[in-house]
Amino acid sequence: MSKRRRLIVGNWKMYGRLTSGLVLARDLAEMAQKHKPLDFDMVICPPATLTWAISEAIAGAPLMLGAQDCHTATHGAYTGDLSAAQFADLGCRYIILGHSERRSAHGETNEIVAQKIEAAQLAGLTAILCVGETAEQLASGTTADIIANQVRASLPEKCRMANLVVAYEPIWAIGSGQQPSPSDVVAVNKVIRKALGEAGETMQILYGGSVSPVNAGNIMAEPEVDGVLVGSASINADGFWAIAEKSR
Ligand code: 13P
Repeated sequence: MSKRRRLIVGNWKMYGRLTSGLVLARDLAEMAQKHKPLDFDMVICPPATLTWAISEAIAGAPLMLGAQDCHTATHGAYTGDLSAAQFADLGCRYIILGHSERRSAHGETNEIVAQKIEAAQLAGLTAILCVGETAEQLASGTTADIIANQVRASLPEKCRMANLVVAYEPIWAIGSGQQPSPSDVVAVNKVIRKALGEAGETMQILYGGSVSPVNAGNIMAEPEVDGVLVGSASINADGFWAIAEKSR
């Protein structure tokens, strides 16, 4: 068992409409309520459009809310963007930042991710920094260097380590059904802890990429893995809860 508390995060990505999102959130809230006190933390990160409705729907349940991205600024003339403070207003406690889908589709560099982490922490949110290597980088044996560099370069100068979680999400494992072996995940987590410096030992490092109720137990059998960041399998209440139960 990990000496750090386990964290189970659901990244709904751009899935879920008002009705389906509310049903999913209410089902999870009911399960969490029934099993409390929980010996793990659970966070759901719905699309921004659903944040407020879900915030109200899960109020009182041992379930936390997160966002999937934010702007680097607190406010301003940025049409279509949302700030970390705005998400905090709606009850968010966590925010996923630097996800590979944002890095690749929106040109987010490590520097931009660092600015977003700073903005998120200023707003009182805990940032979930995503890092991961491509299939080519894996094949060329450069994973450790790539990850260490990504972690260091994505941290703001005045990073509040107590408000930071890192998620190792190999890009080739996202939505592909493929995964590194648990021992490979452990090796990368150790690289991440080292890159984080002194605070590394106490910080939560999650694994993400094709996590399912079938494989979650194997991954979380490793005390080095402090939880999971789940994509498609988090859109199903029973499946997501089954994954969380594997954290025990
Ligand atoms: P999948 O679980 O669908 O592979 O997605 C992982 C992910 O990107 C979570 O952030």
